[in-house]
Amino acid sequence: VDSQQQQLIQLHEKAAEVYHHMLVNTAVGQEALDYLHQRGLDDDLIEEFNIGFAPNQRDFLVRVFQNESLDSKAFPESGLFVERENEELVDRFYQRIMFPIRNFQGKTVGFSGRFFATEDVNEQDQPKYLNSPETTLFNKREILFNFDKARSSIRKDGTVYLFEGFMDVLAAYRSGMTNGIASMGTSLTNEQITSISRIAQELALCYDGDQAGVDATNRAISHLQETSRLDLSVVSVPENLDPDEYVKKYGQEAFVKLLEHGKETVFLFKMRYRRLNKNMANEKEQLEYVQELLHDLLDVDSLIEQDRYLTQLSTEFQISRESLQQQLRDLKRQNR
Ligand code: UTP
Ligand code: MN
Ligand code: MN
Ligand code: MN
Ligand code: MN
Repeated sequence: VDSQQQQLIQLHEKAAEVYHHMLVNTAVGQEALDYLHQRGLDDDLIEEFNIGFAPNQRDFLVRVFQNESLDSKAFPESGLFVERENEELVDRFYQRIMFPIRNFQGKTVGFSGRFFATEDVNEQDQPKYLNSPETTLFNKREILFNFDKARSSIRKDGTVYLFEGFMDVLAAYRSGMTNGIASMGTSLTNEQITSISRIAQELALCYDGDQAGVDATNRAISHLQETSRLDLSVVSVPENLDPDEYVKKYGQEAFVKLLEHGKETVFLFKMRYRRLNKNMANEKEQLEYVQELLHDLLDVDSLIEQDRYLTQLSTEFQISRESLQQQLRDLKRQNR
């Protein structure tokens, strides 16, 4: 690690520290702290993840850094500020609940800030989460939220749970499922998949239960199948809930049960997913559905599993197993 990197890490550690201080020790952060409590995060968790609050002030961090007499050469490159037209630097993050994002070594290298609306501050056009920009320190293609803390649990039982967001990882964490990480959004990169593959054998996708979440799950499956040998499964959160909302509604125990015993195979996910936008009363759409699933069956390595699904399709759609099997063989040949 060169000295510039060292300096950038120092700026991030300092920023995380003052944001955290504002949240837990000051009146400015009180409303945000109440909000986090109400969302189910207790003080220990807030401490452990060093969650903070960036006040509604564009020169908050600027002033903190000036008082600390930190070397200002590194400020622009840190991503913690944005440059105004007159070249003046102002804070990037304000009026946001701050989640420090750590690299694999546990060093804070970026932030994601959740906009926090209050009676006084309610800007409609704000993105819900604002992230640090790409910097020499913060490589978005490589970062996975909580990977550093989750690493030992993942190694121990071989399984990793992949969530969409921060609050989902934290909901799992406080339920005792410490092997959860988040892609922070929905698209996985090759770099992230490679890092995961180094320590996990099994990956359970646990994205949000809404349409965006199931679409992202479907995309993630294809990507993971193409680029890794991870054993994949899907945990579907019911009622369009996301994992965090599920915990709120049904409790931690039910959630742990869902994570541990609610894993389904990729193919069963596909069976549900592929009928979502189809009218299954329509003969033509039914046949399309069977055709698509046969294609999906090519990705099922286990012959026992394949056999079982062929029976299922054959029974449900009254197509002979022989035709299905023949069709599958043809597809296999074409796919080579
Ligand atoms: P969601 O829209 O599902 O938000 O985005 P969430 O995690 O449920 O947020 P809460 O529970 O309302 O706080 C999933 C993830 O996508 C990224 C964040 O990492 C978020 O946790 N995201 C979302 C962004 O980076 N920017 C956004 O504007 C929205
Ligand atoms: Mn979502
Ligand atoms: Mn969500
Ligand atoms: Mn949520
Ligand atoms: Mn294919």
